[in-house]
Amino acid sequence: MATNNIIIFDTTLRDGEQALKASLTVKEKLQIALALERLGVDVMEVGFPVSSEGDFLSVRTIAENIKNSRVCALSRAMDKDIDAAYEALKVADAYRIHTFIASSALHVEAKLKRSFDEVVEMAIQAVKRARNYTDDVEFSCEDAGRTGIDNICRIVEAAISAGATTVNIPDTVGFCLPTEYGSIMANVRNRVPNIDKAIISVHCHNDLGMATANSLTAVLNGARQIECTINGIGERAGNTALEEVVMAIKTRQDMFNGLDTRINTQEIHRVSQMVSQLCNMPIQPNKAIVGDNAFAHSSGIHQDGMLKNKNTYEIMSPESIGLKKEKLNLTARSGRAAVKGHMADMGYTEADYDLDKLYDAFLKLADKKGQVFDYDLEALAFIDMQQGDEDRLTLDVITSQTLSGLPASAFVQVALDGHRINQTSNGGNGPVDAVYNAIMQIVGMDLKMSHYNLTAKGEGAEALGQVDIVVEYEGRRFHGVGLATDIVESSARALIHAINAIYRSQKVANLTKNLKH
Ligand code: KIV
Ligand code: ZN
Repeated sequence: MATNNIIIFDTTLRDGEQALKASLTVKEKLQIALALERLGVDVMEVGFPVSSEGDFLSVRTIAENIKNSRVCALSRAMDKDIDAAYEALKVADAYRIHTFIASSALHVEAKLKRSFDEVVEMAIQAVKRARNYTDDVEFSCEDAGRTGIDNICRIVEAAISAGATTVNIPDTVGFCLPTEYGSIMANVRNRVPNIDKAIISVHCHNDLGMATANSLTAVLNGARQIECTINGIGERAGNTALEEVVMAIKTRQDMFNGLDTRINTQEIHRVSQMVSQLCNMPIQPNKAIVGDNAFAHSSGIHQDGMLKNKNTYEIMSPESIGLKKEKLNLTARSGRAAVKGHMADMGYTEADYDLDKLYDAFLKLADKKGQVFDYDLEALAFIDMQQGDEDRLTLDVITSQTLSGLPASAFVQVALDGHRINQTSNGGNGPVDAVYNAIMQIVGMDLKMSHYNLTAKGEGAEALGQVDIVVEYEGRRFHGVGLATDIVESSARALIHAINAIYRSQKVANLTKNLKH
């Protein structure tokens, strides 16, 4: 199908989410989906509905809420997967079913234990079944990067004959080099007789750091859909980063003349921050486009050049990805309108956050810090997006004490289901440990801490401390996040957040158990 438009297929909430230390909640996934919609992705792949009840529910919730992007769900080439994808998606205004099966000899023989002929037949049946539900069906031959070209052409032709409207050629293990991958695309375009009836799509992993180069080379060889994720998150070394391919096509129009995407690039920075925060996936400072240093000029020679003419060392402007310099004029005397105004300046609408809660949190912070910066406000809004609606456990008071050479002690007061509980603990190996011991004694849970990370949000000594933890409980992992001016308090809040997520998951499990009886 000839088009000058490059379709951006975002898979942050499927391939990206698959690689997280702890799953996102439905609320977090919806927040990201709404941000992707505003970014202008054409298609968003948001889950694998057959894989769990939670995944099914989040695909369904996103399908109900997204109006300006096509919502897609993944399915293996199996009836039950395709049926589940349809059941989750059918409420959407526009949706796509994506079905896949592996095509490389290694996967076909070692993993599927089938012959290639059987695999082609399964692909045909899967595409036909999906076509009974929708006219928009994508077929992927997993591990195409390591599949012989004759077999790629054969399975792609069969899938298109069965009704696939997009055919995706994934480099599942990030094995290909750009020239090689480009030649696979050129072969598919030139040798598959019915290729004019489908869009060719690329899906690259970054194991050798080639994902962006491979995706762009594929475009130069006829591909018209790029599958990618925000910040390049995804299995192992990740997927192609959306911001990289989009900004490369925009910045190098001399090479991609006439080709363009529908992405509103000014949303890139904001959505990148949101995904990093909600997914608990920090961005490396030198990451292209969205890293903290991506627009920083350090050496004297560079700074001198920039002052004389920005083009000396800047190939795109920070403003083009929505990066703005923070302002510092909010204080405890600023009203709700000022807070709302600053959020709007950063690109947030009231649908993204709860103004009452944000204003409350802002006042508390302003009392402690004096001046509140835009990045503080954004951090508070992100934390709110990550909180559940009804928390059973809330923190009232904490104090902790350490004297050098002696074990730490703590006093914690919480409310559990509205009942106030006090607890002290002695013998911690530090103030955070002492507070954690007290909280765990209150809830009586055997939690294993598998990850603890402290990040400064903001600049200098005034920065807020954000603590992200992952705890394991009964075989599942839960993410907790806490933000405060005091890092012992942030740590306590992160644990309480994770415990509330556990309570919530128990409630959902009980509900689904009762529904089944
Ligand atoms: O990497 C891959 O091959 C995939 C497929 C499911 C498209 O993610
Ligand atoms: Zn993948």
